[in-house]
Amino acid sequence: MDKFIIRGGKKLSGRVRISGAKNASLALMPAALLAGGTFHLSNTPGLQDVATMSSLLKTMGMKIDLNGDVLTLDTRGVNKHEAPYAHVKKMRASIYVLGPLIARYGKAKVSLPGGCAWGPRPVNLHIEGLKKLGAEIKLERGYIVAKAKQLTGAKIHFDISSVGATGNVMMAAVLAKGTTLITNAAIEPEITALAEFLVKMGARINGIGTNQLEIEGVDELHPADFETIPDRIEAGTFLTAAAITGGRVTLENVNSEHFSAVTAKLEDAGCTAEVQGSNFELQAPAELKPVDATAVIYPGFPTDMQAQWIALMSIANGTSIVTDTIYTDRFKHVPELERLGADIELKKNAAIVRGVKKLTGATVMSTDLRASASLILAGLVAEGETEVLRVYHLDRGYEAIEKKLRAIGADIERVSGKEY
Ligand code: UD1
Repeated sequence: MDKFIIRGGKKLSGRVRISGAKNASLALMPAALLAGGTFHLSNTPGLQDVATMSSLLKTMGMKIDLNGDVLTLDTRGVNKHEAPYAHVKKMRASIYVLGPLIARYGKAKVSLPGGCAWGPRPVNLHIEGLKKLGAEIKLERGYIVAKAKQLTGAKIHFDISSVGATGNVMMAAVLAKGTTLITNAAIEPEITALAEFLVKMGARINGIGTNQLEIEGVDELHPADFETIPDRIEAGTFLTAAAITGGRVTLENVNSEHFSAVTAKLEDAGCTAEVQGSNFELQAPAELKPVDATAVIYPGFPTDMQAQWIALMSIANGTSIVTDTIYTDRFKHVPELERLGADIELKKNAAIVRGVKKLTGATVMSTDLRASASLILAGLVAEGETEVLRVYHLDRGYEAIEKKLRAIGADIERVSGKEY
């Protein structure tokens, strides 16, 4: 278990290349189960979660190689249709194999993910959607056991807009007989990327990018190559790092439309931002204004930026309220930020953040991916030394975060090898 040591107070300045999106890769990789042959996914981020998905797909017989940022997947040897607990407990996105396996092989056995670090995360919508397509699904000894001779198109309305359920049901519906209509579908960019990849594989999908997807099933798909979209959450995290340190940072390889809700909030806080093609520059103000933010579905402010926003607001000049409507319990970072001197009061799913003049370094512990990012951000501005323990959470979703931060002037080092 590694830890990070950060000596705060350095203004970040320079250019950072943003990697491919974790949440897009984790959907694109299992989508390859839908056809036999060789796929190439470029701009794939080098992340622990991508390694976990690779290892899961390999247990099913897929051959996978990562060369630079190009992931080659050869699906011709797939002969097992199970996602064991050992993988799913490491990474909930393992559930993405369910839809493709049922659609192409007529059977799947996938461990139930259970809760996560900050609270319950059900998969009922995935299961109900797949049942509507005709899958027979039972829950047996902690596993989802599914079979179907031939899936059939259906009308599926999601009561809650769910990224994962939309992805899973869409991946099943592309090989179903007839037409499927998904309403209240998720419109997150990662779902749009998945739909575009499926279309490249021969799927027929209308309404891509809207919350109503019409999918006309086809008999067979074929392999395709695809470039993974840039990671909008990594981009938002680096912008917040620039803002919290009073710096000026240029992001390279981004699609700024994907994080416009975050940019708008940063501008409200006093930052100036400029789009330069696929680059994006942000200059921090001398003093940050307090700005409320509410995490909602796309294109609103993302829940995956909620923790980082609380860190930023903890040193703003005044009080702000940060609310999460997607994951109402996702506040495990708050007590850790308080250890660095932040003044935050939790009321149900809202954090009332009273800006303080300064944070002070201390030892803090990561609890999940984005919570960890918020601790790094706070450490970058805290006076003295901050130790962030359990950084394996960060390695799941940020490619070489300490190297990227160091390249723009942060004083951060990884200490490996001991039990922290
Ligand atoms: C994905 C992202 C995650 C992000 C989240 C919300 C991946 C791998 N992960 O997670 O980083 O934080 O979107 O943008 O892409 N829900 C149900 N029943 C279900 C499924 C979801 O009630 O069957 C609820 C959830 O509890 C949550 C809401 O729906 O309140 C949205 O969750 P969802 O969009 O499904 O998140 P994930 O796909 O798990």
